[in-house]
Amino acid sequence: MAIEKVVVPVAGLGTRLLPATKSQPKEMLPVGRKPVVQYVVEELVSQGLKKFLFVTGKNKRSIEDHFDKDPELLERLRAEGRDELLDEMDYEREGVTFFYVRQRLNPMGVPGGLGAAVAAAEDFVGEEDFVVALGDTIITGGDYSGLIRRMVASHMRNRPAATVAVVEVPEDEVSKYGVVKPKKRAGSEFEAEDLVEKPPSGEAPSRLAIAARYVFSPVIFDAIRRTAPGVGGELQLTDAIANLIKMGHKVMCVKLKPDERRYDIGNPESYFKAFVDFALADQQYGYIIRQYLQRKLREV
Ligand code: UTP
Repeated sequence: MAIEKVVVPVAGLGTRLLPATKSQPKEMLPVGRKPVVQYVVEELVSQGLKKFLFVTGKNKRSIEDHFDKDPELLERLRAEGRDELLDEMDYEREGVTFFYVRQRLNPMGVPGGLGAAVAAAEDFVGEEDFVVALGDTIITGGDYSGLIRRMVASHMRNRPAATVAVVEVPEDEVSKYGVVKPKKRAGSEFEAEDLVEKPPSGEAPSRLAIAARYVFSPVIFDAIRRTAPGVGGELQLTDAIANLIKMGHKVMCVKLKPDERRYDIGNPESYFKAFVDFALADQQYGYIIRQYLQRKLREV
């Protein structure tokens, strides 16, 4: 059966981007003209996925408002002939549906980790394989044979319990991410022997970082139940995937292509870089921004 459900965790507190995230979700911060989470939804819709579950939490209501149909606004845009915006905002017309569930807080009164966020999707997922896409990470460069399509195809072909997107990162960045230890040579698609969340520098098994997109079979929920809190006291999804391997299941990895890029906007440095790249790529203003930046850089 084709995979049609996507789980988008957006329940994190976004503390690294405070104060911008004090009362608004980091997933709603704009990168260029759109909020981050809109890029995520557009990427997945373009790859044929239509049923979305957002795992939300405190202060995340604006995400629901953003994806709600707004007949008055659509009518106004239609009357003004602004068709390019109409196309971007009418998800219903494309048969896309949005569902929401709240992540339960852990005993410390905080969301408690990505593993816990995915666990909240169990009823929605039922017996089907599904995609997980982090709501704070944009993947660019995807086309008809984009990342998710390749991951789903690989998942269908190899029948593992999980298929994980990975991207090679510089040595000094490995301790920011979940890192994969390949079983053999890491080609464009390979099997994982182990996964480690945020390995201390010098101890990472490779430079292949998990890149915010996953395909799972429902057995991941058993693996999450068997996982104890890990780095930062959080229930780490990476640890649950490592448990899948310990339980005897296969975990596959699909590498981003050289022209595909991951923008994790979770910290100020990566957020600023993402904004600059998207502003420079803007069809209407990119050229002006380029000239502006060149002038600015000559001044410093
Ligand atoms: P991060 O771990 O980068 O986000 O989660 P965070 O916890 O919000 O950030 P900091 O560390 O406080 O700055 C990556 C994605 O997973 C979601 C986040 O909303 C983000 O989209 N997430 C994270 C959850 O849904 N639940 C969690 O418990 C943690």
